[in-house]
Amino acid sequence: TDAKKAVIAAAIRVIPDFPKKGIMFQDVSTLLLDPAAFQASIDLFVEQYRPKDIQVIAGFEARGFIFGPPVALALGVPFVMLRKPGKLPGETVGEEYITEYSTDKIEIHTGAIKPGQRVLLIDDLVATGGTLLAGANLVRKVGGVVVEAAAVIELPDLKGRQKLGDLPLFTLIDVEGE
Ligand code: PRP
Ligand code: MG
Repeated sequence: TDAKKAVIAAAIRVIPDFPKKGIMFQDVSTLLLDPAAFQASIDLFVEQYRPKDIQVIAGFEARGFIFGPPVALALGVPFVMLRKPGKLPGETVGEEYITEYSTDKIEIHTGAIKPGQRVLLIDDLVATGGTLLAGANLVRKVGGVVVEAAAVIELPDLKGRQKLGDLPLFTLIDVEGE
């Protein structure tokens, strides 16, 4: 596990001052260029969640769509898209939230999650935790049971974990000094 985490950490490129001055952007595009590192991230999620009776994985547009589906396929469960507003063609329910940079909104198709289903949230990165919290609120709004939230990267200085309260958060690597 530690060896896999080291491979993942080494594959993430850091770009200073993007999208604005003072932000050290954690770029997962370079993780995706490295199949061993990408595979390691999926392996660690699958190992964590195989025993947990997850029935649905919900992932966040855009970068949560990269990590959620491989885990959903490995576990043999549905993947549900949490999309930015106006993108889903069917009937939707929405939830507004605040990110590191802006105010945003996510939407889900009604009926994608059945009441009582055990849901895992997946994203690439947790910063303030606003995105994951909005996802948890949205899934609960449609009757799902949010079991846990997961991300590849955690920025502990931004205290996203605290914002999630009782919801367990599983992350693969910590990046300090944001
Ligand atoms: C980024 C990142 C997470 C979120 C984390 O998404 O991918 O989804 O911010 O921030 P938070 O914990 O403060 O909510 P963003 O919408 O910026 O970009 P994306 O569409 O490329 O995923
Ligand atoms: Mg995102």
